[in-house]
Amino acid sequence: MPERIFVAVAWPYANGSLHLGQIAGCYLPADIFARYHRMKGNRVIMVSGSDQHGTPITIRADREGISPQEIVDRFHAEFLDSWSRLGISFDLFTTTGTENHAQVVQELFLTLLEKGYIYKDSMLLPYSAEQDRFLPDRYVEGICPFCGDPGARGDQCDACGRTLNPTDLIEPRSAIGGSILEFRESEHFFLKLTAFQEPLLEWVKKQSHWRPNVLNFTQRYLEDGLKDRAITRDIQWGIRIPLEGYESKRIYVWFEAVTGYLSAAKEWAQREGEPEAWEPYFRDSETRGYYFIGKDNIPFHTIIWPAMLMGDGSFERPYDVPANEFLNMEDAKISTSRNWAVWLPDYLDRFEPDPLRYVLSAIMPESSDSNFSWPDFVRRNNQELVATYGNLVHRVLTMTHRNFKGTFPQPGELDAEDEAMMDRIPAALDEAARNLESCRFRRALSVAMDLAQAANRYLDVKEPWRTRKTDLERTATTLWVCLNVLSCLRTITYPFLPFSAQRLHEMLGYEGGVKDAGWKLDVVPMGKSFGKPAHLFSKLDDSVAEEEQERLRAAAR
Ligand code: MF3
Ligand code: ZN
Repeated sequence: MPERIFVAVAWPYANGSLHLGQIAGCYLPADIFARYHRMKGNRVIMVSGSDQHGTPITIRADREGISPQEIVDRFHAEFLDSWSRLGISFDLFTTTGTENHAQVVQELFLTLLEKGYIYKDSMLLPYSAEQDRFLPDRYVEGICPFCGDPGARGDQCDACGRTLNPTDLIEPRSAIGGSILEFRESEHFFLKLTAFQEPLLEWVKKQSHWRPNVLNFTQRYLEDGLKDRAITRDIQWGIRIPLEGYESKRIYVWFEAVTGYLSAAKEWAQREGEPEAWEPYFRDSETRGYYFIGKDNIPFHTIIWPAMLMGDGSFERPYDVPANEFLNMEDAKISTSRNWAVWLPDYLDRFEPDPLRYVLSAIMPESSDSNFSWPDFVRRNNQELVATYGNLVHRVLTMTHRNFKGTFPQPGELDAEDEAMMDRIPAALDEAARNLESCRFRRALSVAMDLAQAANRYLDVKEPWRTRKTDLERTATTLWVCLNVLSCLRTITYPFLPFSAQRLHEMLGYEGGVKDAGWKLDVVPMGKSFGKPAHLFSKLDDSVAEEEQERLRAAAR
C-alpha cells in the first residue's frame, strides 16, 4: 500500500536571491526526501512558495524606490528558475500573493475567531511620531527578556530563538537611526496560544522521533509558558482582515505564511483538476507531514502552526519537523547584509547542479552547524565524485564496452569474493532507505559512496584488465558484478544526484526515467548493446577554489 507523504518546505522571503545556506537548510533535504518517497511509489506532494509579505519585502522595496509587488515578482521568477536548474522538484511552488491563499487565510482566521481562539484586544505598539506611523516589530531592538542578548528584535531573538513582542524587550529602542521610540495603543486580534499550552506539551512529549534539538527546544519553550500573540498589524502590505472596520490593518505575516502549507495543498489539488485531493494530506491520520525548515523557524512550526491546526480542529499536525542547523561560509556566519554568501543563481551560472547537491548533502547541518568552503568543494568533487564514483562507472563501462563488443555480458560462476560484493548491494539499498526515511541524509549518502568505494577495491583485487587475456569469462563475471553495483548506485544516488543518476540509468541501457524504475534492485539488461560511456562528472582545477574565495571576499561589504 502506498503511503501518503506531505513534504512542506519553508517559504522563502521573496526579497533577494537564495543562498547556499537556505539550500542546505531545507530545500535540498526536502527534495531528497520527496524524490526517495516518489521513487518508492508513495504518494507525495512537496509544496512551498514565495513569502511575499512582511517587513523584509517592504524594506527592500523602500530602498529601491519601487513597489513591493515588483520586488516579489522579480524574485519569485528567479526562485522558479533556480528550482528547475538545481532540480528541486516541487509539486507546487506558489506565492502568498494568490487569491486562493488570501481566502484560505481569511477562512481560518474566521474559524478561529468563531471558536474563541482569536480575540480582540488593544496593545501597545512601537510608534514613530516623526514618521507618523506604527513601526514594524523588526525595527525595534533591545535586550531579550529570556536570554539577555542585547541584540534582540521586536519579533524574535536570534540568540535564543524565542518569538517576542516589541513590548517584551528590555530597554527597547528604534533600529532606524535616531528616531525616538514611543508606544501607542492600537486595537488588534490575538491568537490565544495560552489555550494550547497543555495539549501542545502533551503532544510534543510523544514525538520521540523528532530530532533532539527540535524536541528539546520546543519542550523548553512550552514549559516556560506561552503568551497570546497579536496576529494583526498596522500595515498596508499584507492580507486583509475579513471584518469591517479594520481596513488600515493587515494579518501578520507569520500567521498567514504558515497557513500557506494548507493553501498550497489546495491550489495543487485545483491544478490537478481534483479539488478535493488535498484533503487526505491534511485530514488522514495515516498521512505523514514533514516540515523542512531552518532552526530559526522552529517555534512557528512546532508551536504556532500546530496550535492553529488544533484550533481549527479538522486538521492533522506535523509528523516531523526535521529542522537543520546553520551552514557557515568559509568559517564565518552567512550574512545577506554583509553579502557574505554564495548565491544560488551565481553558482548555477558557473557550475553543474549535482556537485553542489552532493557537497551540500555531505556536509548538511543536520545535528550541528557545519561549514562550506571552496577548497572542500573542489576536493569532494574531485576525490569523491570524480575519482571514487565517476571513475568506477567509467572503468566498468569502458572495459565492458571494449571486451564485449558494446553489450552487457553473461556472468560465469561466482566465487566467494563475487558473492561478498553481491551481498553488499541489497544491504546498501536497505541501509540507505532506513537513513533516508529517518531524514539522516548524510548517512544515506555515505552508504552510496561506501558501496562505490568497495566496488573499486573489488575491481583492484579482481583485475579484469589482466584476466581478459587469460579468462574472458572471469572478466565477464567481475564486470557483471560491478554492473549490478552501478545499477544499485543509480537508484541510491537518484534522490541526491538526479541528473547524473538519469545519465547513468541511460548508460546502463535502461529506458525511461530512473525514478520510474523504482526503489529496488534491477538486473542490467543482459545482451543489450550500449553506447560508448561518457564521464559522469568533471574534474575542477584547484585554482577554482582560490578564484571563488577571492570572488566571495571581493563582493563582501
Ligand atoms: N519567510 C519566512 C522565513 O524565511 C517564513 C518561512 S516558513 C513559513 O523565515 F512557513 F512560515 F512560511
Ligand atoms: Zn533571547
